[in-house]
Amino acid sequence: ATGNLVVIVGPMYSGKTSELISFIEIYTLGKKKIKVFKPLLDKRYNETYIVSHSNTSVKAIPINNSAEILPQLEGDEKAVFIDEIQFLDEPLREVVVEMINSGKDVYCAGLDLSYKNNPFKVTSLLMAHADTVIKKKAVCHECGEYRGTISYKIVENGGEIDVGGFEKYIAVCRDCYLKLNEKK
Ligand code: ADP
Ligand code: TMP
Ligand code: MG
Ligand code: ZN
Repeated sequence: ATGNLVVIVGPMYSGKTSELISFIEIYTLGKKKIKVFKPLLDKRYNETYIVSHSNTSVKAIPINNSAEILPQLEGDEKAVFIDEIQFLDEPLREVVVEMINSGKDVYCAGLDLSYKNNPFKVTSLLMAHADTVIKKKAVCHECGEYRGTISYKIVENGGEIDVGGFEKYIAVCRDCYLKLNEKK
């Protein structure tokens, strides 16, 4: 049988990495063989761990691009996990389709939107193939409601690819996002 594709998306701090780690735990508890990948670009805390904002972590294989995934598989993995997919290349789509077609469950987590409200293309492509899309929300940094759907950049420098955390980004709801952008 083919595998399932689960794609976890949402703004920063919405719990994407934590949810990915919970799924990893389910497979690990069941003694299923898995592999975990993350783009090397995300050196926020550590090159070989995926780390959540609440500081839980799991060891991961760092990769520069999606072509490095299939050669690292031994064939008998039940599931493959990839965090920060927004930093990977668009051919990740073909790699993921190949894995689910060959019977592996694949769990991907990443940003759906940049702080400029632009979709990350690779995330959109994977959402199209997903059996399940989990849209996470954050608590809005401005109004405190649990409606945070977009990340807002609080510093002027850097582009749409710019690794960072609380020093650079907050999560906000759409209303507060519009208000903050009006003020600028
Ligand atoms: P993501 O990978 O989506 O950035 P993480 O799983 O790394 O999310 O972090 C989620 C954790 O971040 C929450 O469990 C909470 O402890 C913390 N957190 C910090 N700021 C917020 C916020 N504004 N809304 C929700 N959780 C937040
Ligand atoms: P997180 O979703 O696990 O919090 O991590 C998101 C990473 O993406 C973090 O390193 C900051 C980075 N980022 C960008 O590169 N561009 C963006 O537009 C946003 C919102 C975040
Ligand atoms: Mg994360
Ligand atoms: Zn708000």
